[in-house]
Amino acid sequence: QRQELLVRAHKLKAVGTLTAGVAHELNNPMNNIMLTASSLQEDYTDLTDEDRLDMVKDLVGESERAQKIVRNLLDFARESTFQLQPVNPQRLVEETLRLATNQIKLAKVKVRGEIDSNLPPVYGDFQQLTQVMLNLVLNALDAMPNGGTLTIALRTPSGRDQIAMEVTDTGIGMPEQVRANVFDPFFTTKSAATGTGLGLSVSLGIIRQHGGDILVRSKVGEGTTFTIQLPVAMVPAMIPESKEIDPDEIPIQ
Ligand SMILES: Nc1ncnc2c1ncn2[C@@H]1O[C@H](COP(=O)(O)OP(=O)(O)OP(=O)(O)O)[C@@H](O)[C@H]1O
Ligand SMILES: [Mg+2]
Repeated sequence: QRQELLVRAHKLKAVGTLTAGVAHELNNPMNNIMLTASSLQEDYTDLTDEDRLDMVKDLVGESERAQKIVRNLLDFARESTFQLQPVNPQRLVEETLRLATNQIKLAKVKVRGEIDSNLPPVYGDFQQLTQVMLNLVLNALDAMPNGGTLTIALRTPSGRDQIAMEVTDTGIGMPEQVRANVFDPFFTTKSAATGTGLGLSVSLGIIRQHGGDILVRSKVGEGTTFTIQLPVAMVPAMIPESKEIDPDEIPIQ
């Protein structure tokens, strides 16, 4: 019961932080859609076929952007999909790499694994944890436009009841003013068409919900390491019940 309330409080806080920016961020593509659709309607007969096609392409692009924002938020906010179970960290990595296979090939990136033997399971939602790893891997690929090496390491720091999952790239790295803001909702250095700036804030929200944290180390021109820390699975008696919370009950201010 207490655990449930705690998880819920954390989630509300994270969702609250996100919603602060959502109205604004969704408003941009919505405005563009509105303007373009209106002029398409008004000037329809005066426009060339080429103009019309351009405008329809804009409409599709802006709609996709709005859709990506909503999808990212739903990944995090949808309670009914939150299912806690023991998860083998190595399976997380395998599933993530499977999902990213095409992007990895296109990016001409080499993948290395450094996996400790006898890793203990973590306790969490397989899909959400995979989503977090995938966000980190896709960011790493974006950071290596000319190829490079992606290293995924799974470690058990000695003397601690947690595991560390590291995603390291040999990419562009980040100056301090970028590094300091990467977890802010909607912070992005990518073009409007490619980045929503939600990947890391949603990922951090998910990992915090699991009782963990994400750390980042980066050096301009050398690369970046994101480290996910997660508590190892607790003994069964301590494992809280998997919970179902009606999403309609969540007050979003
Ligand atoms: N591995 C990395 N190397 C360099 N910069 C990074 C890396 N990962 C994240 N960043 C920086 O952090 C910003 C925020 O990342 P985040 O994943 O939250 O959003 P995004 O990747 O821009 O958009 P989206 O995840 O929606 O595609 C990025 O725009 C980029 O500037
Ligand atoms: Mg991203």
